[in-house]
Order: sequence, then C-alpha cells, then structure tokens
Amino acid sequence: YLNYRVPQTRRDIFQTLIKGLQRLEYRGYDSAGVAVDGSGKDHAASISLYKKTGKVKALDEEIYKNNSIDFEAELDTHFGIAHTRWATHGEPSPLNSHPHRSDKNNEFVVIHNGIITNYKELKKYLVSKGYDFESDTDTEVIPKLIKYLYDNRENDYVSFSTLVERVIQQLEGAFALVFKSIHFPGEAVATRRGSPLLIGVRSQYELSTEQIPVQYNCSNSRTDEQEKNVLNRRGSTNALHSVHDRLAVEFYFASDASAIIEHTNKVIYLEDDDIAVVVEGKLYVHRIKRTAGEDPVRVIQTLQMELQQIMKGNFKAFMQKEIFEQPESVVNTMRGRICFDSNTVILGGLSDHLKEIKRCRRLIVIGCGTSYHAGVATRQILEELTELPVMVELASDFLDRITPVFRDDVCFFISQSGETADTLMALRYCKQRGALTVGVTNTVGSSICRETDCGVHINAGPEVGVASTKAYTSQFVSLIMFGLMMSEDRLSMQQRRLEIINGLKKLPELIKEVLALDDQIKSIADELHHQRSLLVMGRGYNYATCLEGALKIKEITYMHSEGILAGELKHGPLALIDKHMPVIMVIMRDACYKKCHNALEQVTARQGRPIILCCQDDPEISKMAYKTIELPHTVDCLQGIISVIPLQLISFHLAVLRGYDNCFNSATLE
Ligand code: F6R
Repeated sequence: YLNYRVPQTRRDIFQTLIKGLQRLEYRGYDSAGVAVDGSGKDHAASISLYKKTGKVKALDEEIYKNNSIDFEAELDTHFGIAHTRWATHGEPSPLNSHPHRSDKNNEFVVIHNGIITNYKELKKYLVSKGYDFESDTDTEVIPKLIKYLYDNRENDYVSFSTLVERVIQQLEGAFALVFKSIHFPGEAVATRRGSPLLIGVRSQYELSTEQIPVQYNCSNSRTDEQEKNVLNRRGSTNALHSVHDRLAVEFYFASDASAIIEHTNKVIYLEDDDIAVVVEGKLYVHRIKRTAGEDPVRVIQTLQMELQQIMKGNFKAFMQKEIFEQPESVVNTMRGRICFDSNTVILGGLSDHLKEIKRCRRLIVIGCGTSYHAGVATRQILEELTELPVMVELASDFLDRITPVFRDDVCFFISQSGETADTLMALRYCKQRGALTVGVTNTVGSSICRETDCGVHINAGPEVGVASTKAYTSQFVSLIMFGLMMSEDRLSMQQRRLEIINGLKKLPELIKEVLALDDQIKSIADELHHQRSLLVMGRGYNYATCLEGALKIKEITYMHSEGILAGELKHGPLALIDKHMPVIMVIMRDACYKKCHNALEQVTARQGRPIILCCQDDPEISKMAYKTIELPHTVDCLQGIISVIPLQLISFHLAVLRGYDNCFNSATLE
C-alpha cells in the first residue's frame, strides 16, 4: 500500500495492510508479516519488519503491543507491504514468513506469491558470493539477488525498476513480487509471472478508463547517463496522473481484489513480466522487451463486484470453490516440473534419490482415505512405467498386519495435511526397517514432510474444505509425474510417455469442460437426494474413481454409498441391484470398456437404471443408460482425474440438497 501526499498516521497504514491480509484469510495461510518504514526521525532511512506464525490477528496484536512504534506519527508519503504465507518451502515460522529481507539492515524487502523453481542454483551462487541466508524458503533468493545486483551495479545511478528487471531475468517459476527498499524511499516496484497481481488506484479525481502505455526498454545496455535519466526519459504521457502532477494518490498492490475493494474499485491487472513502478506518486508499467501481438497499454478497469461477492464468487463453500480451482491447481502441481518442449519431467525433491529408487525391489504407496485412493488410481500406470511391483496400502491396515518391509523397498506416504497419524506411524515403521521414504504432501513443514528422506510437494494450494478434492487430483498428477521421471531413459516407453505428457498438457482445459457440466450434474443430484443409498461401479483405471466418489458421498451427504469393482459384481453385489437402487457406473473407452459393458448388461437385466459417466459420443452406452454424463476423453491413465470431478460435484450438491452442512465446516466463506 502506497500513499502519496495523503497524510496517514502510522496506525492507519498498519490498519490498511492488516485489513488487506484479513480479507485474504479465506484462502488459507500459516503465517503473516508486514514491512513498513522505521520509526526514527528520518523514517524512510530504515525498514521495520514484523512477522508471526498463525493468524493475522496474532500479528496485529503483536504490532499493537510494541511500545517502540509511534502509531500517531503522520506520514505524508509511505509505502508498506504485507503478506500471508502458505508454505511451499520450509515450515511455517517467523523466519520463513514474508516479507523476506536482503540483510540484517533490511535494505531490500520482498513479498512473493508463487514458487521459484531455480532457487537452489541461485542460492548456491549467492552463498558463494558471501550472502547469508536465514530461512529455508525459495523466496529468500530474491531479496539477496537484488542486493547483490545493487552492490555490484556498474553505474552509480541505478533505478529500482532496473534492478527488479534484472532480478526477474534470473528467476524461473511463478511469482507475483512487490519490493520495498531503503535506497528508494517512497518508491514501489511490483512484477508478476504466472501468479496474479493487480494494482488498485484511489485518487482525488474521477478515474475512468485511463490507459497506461507500456514502455519497452532494455536496462542491460543502459549507460550511466541513461540510467540517471531513466525517469526523465519516461515521457509524461507514459505515466498515470501525468497531467495531475500534484495529485494525492493511493496505490494498492494485491494478488486478489478482495484485499483492496473496500478502498477502490479502479484496478489495473498486470500481465506476465510487466514491471510496475510508482515513483513520486506516478505509476509506470514497463516490460523488458516487446513480443508480437501484445497489448501496448494497461487499462484501468472498474470492478462492479462487492467485497462479499469477490470472496465468495459464486461459491457456497470452500469445497465447491476448491473443486472449481482444479484447472489451476493441476497446473500448479506441474509448474516448473514438466518441460513440454523436451518431454522431460523433473521432480526436484526426488532427483538426488532417483538412482536409489530405480534400484529398489518394490514401491509401497501408503495413505488413508482420499490419499490412499490416489495410490489406487495410479498403481497400474506406475507398474507400467517403473516396471516394479507396486503395493498400495491403507496405513492402518498396513500397520495392523505388521507388513514385512525391506531395506530395498521405497515407501511413498501420500497425505494432504502431512499430519495424519496412521500415515505418520507407517512412515516411522518403514524408516525403522531401513526403507527409503518419500513424502507426497500438500503441507510443507508438516511432520511427514520433515520425517521422510525426500519428497514431492503437490502445490495444490491450501485445502480448506473438509472433503479433499483438489488435493486428490494433484496427488494423482504428482504420482504420474513420478512414473514419467522414472521411465525417462526407457526407449521402449517414449511413445507412451509422450502420450501421457500431451494428456497432462491438455488436462486443465478438459477439467474446465467437465466443470461446465455442473448444472446437468446438479439436476441429477436433485433426483437422487431422497435416496438412502448410492452405488458407484467401475473397474480398471476407474476403480479408484468409484472408491473416491463413494467416499465423498458418504462423508458429506450421510448417504450410504459404496464403490464397487465391476469385476466383482457377480460375486455378491449384484444382489443389491433392482429398479429402486440408484447406480452410477463409470464406463470410459479404455481396455476395460468391453468388460464394463458386460457389467452394464447385468445391471439392466436386473432392471437397474444406471446413471453412466461415459465418453462423449458413445451411443451404444447412452442407449442403455437411464442418464449419461458425457465426459471428454483423455489418455487411459489420466481419465480418472476427469471422471472423479462429476462425483465430487454430485456429492457437494447432494449435501446441500439434503441439508447437511458438513462441506461447510470450517469452510464457510461468510
Ligand atoms: C476425504 C478426506 C480424508 C483424507 C484422509 C487422509 O475427503 O479428506 O479421507 O483424505 O483423512 O488425510 P491426509 O491426506 O491429510 O493424510
């Protein structure tokens, strides 16, 4: 938040920053922090950092009990930054929380939303140059890097934005960044690539649809003189407020409009690689180079939404919101790991152990509930790609059986929270027996994360809803990526790998297609919600889909539901089928298609009225179905990601219709 010629007390500034963080609390977080100018006479000569794990309220309380802060001091111009963190590298702790700093004098401070995938290389380089690191995060390389560039500047005059430009040229991954520095008091620089970032503008005069022309320059080749004149060179027409030079103005940088909407509804959305700079109350946007066809202006837009609407969107609950986040969450799982040009997959957390994993005798995949289902869903493709025997185990049962485990086993522990007691106990059990342990979790710093030898962070983002949804699809994608990494040097598998990698590339679009069927799915839930029981049947790659769908239905709708392996139908479950028993069947075009067709015939012969999840344009199946939900087709081993989504949606709608609010537990957006 930057106020320019808008006198504010330090208390007001803290309030604006903290309130903004509280508006983002609904997205989940584990720590929070803020950076403002120091309290000395020349306030901009130093930067004060306040950080706290846990709730934003705890940070707020910590700040207000600090006697050294002069809350009543009036600041004419000031720039403060704040951030809530959801750990991706390093456990939740004050040191790991944002803002991160360049050094003990806080010369540069940075907040970052996203992931830096090449941080290890950058860290190694900066450590070799004598820069000390204090956190376990990927983010910390950014303030260190900008300080390194500042310390080693060729010219006396270097602008803040030039430094940021040079920083982002070195970064790989996804980021939205906002920088503050004692060397550039009252200046703000923000940039993004792959993570959202917008700028709210509040001004004395009526803003309508001003456009800011984007400037293109290459700072690398600037001479000393050019650098000195960088601000002058920015023609007056290139800045917002250029004609209102003496104007008081406030700028709000945020990853989400909910953080700022109570202050202004005038916003500018930044594009990837835009660098936004505020100098002397004027906003400039520039880019390192121009690419063909890009829009040369950034337009001020007027948001029509109210705060409540923005936070809630069209969603009634976090579960629903998280189901709809899946096109993005699967991308976040793959980001920086799959190179679609070279068809390579690198899971950085496993690289050092890959040789050992390749030499193992078998893979054991262990989890509970939904996380166990992710193992069931990917077992077949893991067997195919790794050519190893794969056991998938429920953690509790695995322990009850005192299952033999050997030193040359590799054991995977799948857990969204990273804290599930049975999974954690199974991990300790396998460790004691000398197996290599691999964590697949969504919560960095969790017990499973800390205690495993190596691992994969699924990067699905915080899962707040009680029923696991987006974590399942991200666990699924993570395990597939592991299989792809294991088979990289197998010539005979290149065709299959290519097919899967192409399938992964298209996944977000296909998920969107399925989500667009929500109204149709809701009408099916309307019809089913008075039933007492619901069977979900399938086989092969989609057996896990049935188990997972039935678990969701049980968990949040209080309806009896069972996932049945279609191959087992004639060995008992067929007795349940009649015209009254609702059955959902999953019949996709894969190697089990014919066998599923047989099961369908058995169901209809008993006057069952199956609702069938099938591929688009399958008239043969459609004519035998009571109803169909037609899904886009993808590679067999990825189809389960597509087919589980209608079941997640059905269970959500059933819960709402039946009046059970479990899916809203700890998750209401009010
Ligand atoms: C179902 C669900 C649970 C969890 C299980 C394991 O919707 O959420 O079945 O999957 O309790 O939890 P994690 O993955 O945190 O170990």
